[in-house]
Amino acid sequence: MADIPFVLVAKVEDVPSAGMKCFDVEGRGVLVMNTGEGAYKAVENACSHEKKPLEGGRVRGGKKIVCPHHGANFDLDTGKALSPPAVLPITVFPTKVEDGSIYVQLVEAMKPPANPFAVPGAGGMPGGL
Ligand code: FES
Repeated sequence: MADIPFVLVAKVEDVPSAGMKCFDVEGRGVLVMNTGEGAYKAVENACSHEKKPLEGGRVRGGKKIVCPHHGANFDLDTGKALSPPAVLPITVFPTKVEDGSIYVQLVEAMKPPANPFAVPGAGGMPGGL
C-alpha cells in the first residue's frame, strides 16, 4: 500500500481520547477512533452485515469495535469479523499521526469473496433472473 497516499482527515483534538468521529473524506465515511495514548484507528463507517454505520459502536481494548446495531465484533487491525451476525470483514484504513494531524490511506473497500459455489460459465437464470 506504499503507493496510496495518506490524506488528511482531522486534527488530533477533533477526536477526543476514547472517542470516535466520522469524517467525509473524498466521499467516503471514515470513522476515526482515538483508542488512547495517542493511538488512532480508522475504518470505513459501514458494517459489513447490513451496511449500517459503525459510528456509535463500542471500542474494546483498542482492538475491536462492536457494531451498535446487531453487535458484531470486528478486529480494528485487520477488519476481520469476529462474531455474528457479520461474516465479512470491514475496511480498515492504515492511519498515521504527524504534526498533530491524523492521516489515512484510502484503501479500496473490502469486497465479498467470490462465491465458492458458483459454477464457472453457468450464467444466470433464464429471463435474466
Ligand atoms: S449492521 Fe452491524 S451487526 Fe448488523
